[in-house]
Amino acid sequence: MKKVLVTGGCGYIGSHTIVDLINNGFEVISVDNNSNSDIRVLQGIREITGVTVKNYTIDLCDLEKTRRIFSNEKFDGVIHFAALKSVGDSVFDPLGYFHNNLNSLLNILHCIKEFEVGQFIFSSSCSVYGNSKELPVTEDTPFEEAESPYARTKQMGEQMIRDFSKVNPATSSVLLRYFNPAGAHESAIIGEAPTNKANNLVPVITETAIGKRKELVVFGDDYDTRDGSCIRDYIHVMDLANAHTRALQYVMDDRNSENCEVFNLGIGEGVTVLEAVKAFEEVAQVDLNYRIGDRRAGDVVAIYANMDFAAQKLGWQPTHSIKDIMRTAWAWEQARTEAIVPN
Ligand code: NAD
Ligand code: WQD
Repeated sequence: MKKVLVTGGCGYIGSHTIVDLINNGFEVISVDNNSNSDIRVLQGIREITGVTVKNYTIDLCDLEKTRRIFSNEKFDGVIHFAALKSVGDSVFDPLGYFHNNLNSLLNILHCIKEFEVGQFIFSSSCSVYGNSKELPVTEDTPFEEAESPYARTKQMGEQMIRDFSKVNPATSSVLLRYFNPAGAHESAIIGEAPTNKANNLVPVITETAIGKRKELVVFGDDYDTRDGSCIRDYIHVMDLANAHTRALQYVMDDRNSENCEVFNLGIGEGVTVLEAVKAFEEVAQVDLNYRIGDRRAGDVVAIYANMDFAAQKLGWQPTHSIKDIMRTAWAWEQARTEAIVPN
């Protein structure tokens, strides 16, 4: 059985990916300092898969503690999710974001080299493209100026891995650029559960519908799009999870000899904010309390992926629609809210 280290394994995408990895026969070890997650997600993973995943609760910015994990365990591959991810917070705390996201990556790369790990998968983001002039974006679309320090950590992280790959041919790396991940596991046992306040559209919608928030503010309806609201490419978290499993299998296959490859992970279709709201209202049978507000600073008008390369090379095909995203996110919101209602 191949053994994989998942950093940020208690987080949103990490926890769903662990489920997919276990279902595909991998042994998983997690490391997470729980700065934006709850260790109890591992109970959920056990409930779904029957497997107890070990987590090392350490900060990956600590090289010595990170090294100790690599010397305790022998990993075939590493999937590096751990990072701070709030675009807005990063504007006010650029040094905190550079410190956390770049030092943790640097330490992981040091350990990969020292302990001769053969496969490395990195969580990148569509934010590397900035305000792209061409749509849909392909992996070759040039980067525009990063819109935030967070996005810059992803551009810099990618560059660090490319430079590392040039002189470390024994490690095959894959950079995965996610578009807008959303939704939850079908069981509603795990889902998006940040300990910091959620800012992304789908959790804001479900939290409004259940009454945790007063309203959803749609950030602008005067853009040059089909209904005036911004366009994004929403990808179901279980489709995204499966892309990681496939990327790992891909780099473990000796026939694939490139030692640093990049893939866009979206569904390849744009959905407007108002269409997303409508999809939610239809599946949840709820009238959402929303109003049109001002544009949000830093928002790009439209971005969606060309994901043909991932489909062709990884044999990956997303199977969930925006309605599946809303249905599973809503089931998860209801389940977790019930679980915390005081008796
Ligand atoms: P998340 O916050 O739910 O998960 C990240 C996990 O990493 C958290 O559990 C956090 O506690 C942990 N962590 C952070 N810094 C750490 C450190 N120094 N040491 C140990 N653990 C640490 O976020 P997510 O949505 O699951 O995102 C996972 C990755 O995907 C991140 O790299 C993020 O930038 C990237 N990404 C996310 C999105 C998105 O919209 N969710 C989109 C594109 C890319
Ligand atoms: C989606 C759309 C908002 C909330 C961010 C990062 C990106 C990547 C994914 C990490 C936009 C609108 C939102 C609300 C709204 N993350 N919206 N009201 O900004 O596309 O992407 O997450 O790498 O890098 O930038 O995602 O979910 O915040 O917004 O109208 O209360 O929903 O304006 O058009 P975004 P989002």
